[in-house]
Amino acid sequence: FAQANTFKIGLILPMTGQQASTGRQIEAAARLYMAQNGDTVAGKKIELILKDDTGVPDVTKRLAQELVVSDKVNVLAGFGITPSALATAPIATQSKTPQVVMAAATSSITQASPYIVRTSFTLPQASVALADWAPKNGIKKVVTLVSDYGPGIDAEKFFKERLTFNGGQVTESLRVPLRNPDFAPFLQKVRDLKPDALFVFVPSGAGAAVMKQFLERGMDKAGIKLIGTGDVTDDDQLNDMGDGALGVVTSHHYSAHHPSAMNKKFVEAFGKANKGMRPNFMAVGGYDGMRVIYEALRATKGQGGGDALLEAMKGQIFESPRGPMFIDAQTRDVVHNIYLRKVERKDGQLHNVEFDVIKDVKDPGKTK
Ligand code: DHB
Repeated sequence: FAQANTFKIGLILPMTGQQASTGRQIEAAARLYMAQNGDTVAGKKIELILKDDTGVPDVTKRLAQELVVSDKVNVLAGFGITPSALATAPIATQSKTPQVVMAAATSSITQASPYIVRTSFTLPQASVALADWAPKNGIKKVVTLVSDYGPGIDAEKFFKERLTFNGGQVTESLRVPLRNPDFAPFLQKVRDLKPDALFVFVPSGAGAAVMKQFLERGMDKAGIKLIGTGDVTDDDQLNDMGDGALGVVTSHHYSAHHPSAMNKKFVEAFGKANKGMRPNFMAVGGYDGMRVIYEALRATKGQGGGDALLEAMKGQIFESPRGPMFIDAQTRDVVHNIYLRKVERKDGQLHNVEFDVIKDVKDPGKTK
């Protein structure tokens, strides 16, 4: 009886290990969404079952299997890194369980299972906007430095293609290991190559280390600009990066400084519930993912199985703290604005301040 009146969300996140900040941000956001929207929808009590996959995809897969088979969850959610999302995809397909990807951002993820819906972003979305901005702003020769796995390879490829199309040039493409990266030898090489700018993608949590080593090597003083997707000026770490971060231009879908009434409320409530913590783009992916799940449950009146829930997730259109967004019904991927931002000090704090917007950006990876 309890089972019939319960709706279970299996939330799998890296709560420990290298990607722990992603888990901390998404858990906080999911709990905030529930606190604000109640834990009963269409007569069902929502139960959030949180599991720590430590950012290891074999563990993600085992946990997903257990959640589906033993806990009989209605939805799988979370997925801090691409390999974790991909490892779970076959389980979502076989069990017909919607898999809401709240963090991972390699373009191809949504093609790994027809049950995947994404509320995070894609690296091609974020990278292309910056490759349009750069050559108009005196940046012609660029070296790219990315984490050597799915999202990094997407960022490298789509940035390079668009920059080249725009008459710029990627003079060298460097890839650094995802696990325990040492940026020093790569940055030394970039210093010697002396491009106009260094384009960086590293996953959430690694940006501060890149920034520190970039500044320690005096790369900025040598005339090399740091640019990248917003992962590098992650709001989780930005305020502690120091004045050296001022002026860094990035492109992304979310800034905690986004000047909408909804975002101001979100940032304030998030901070209040979490000892002043600032939400980052991971938090917003988690918050919006919960919205997509809640509204699918509401639309199916609490009666739907996996297929009905999935259908009710497709095409959802709503305002997010990031701005307007929707779930493309064909691709099940997120469509949202991409903002160009510059790090500035506002009210004593370092922020990604938006100065331009490209509206309703679909994943460029889907049209290839
Ligand atoms: C992925 C992880 C991140 O932390 C991030 O900022 C972007 C992408 C990923 O593994 O897909």
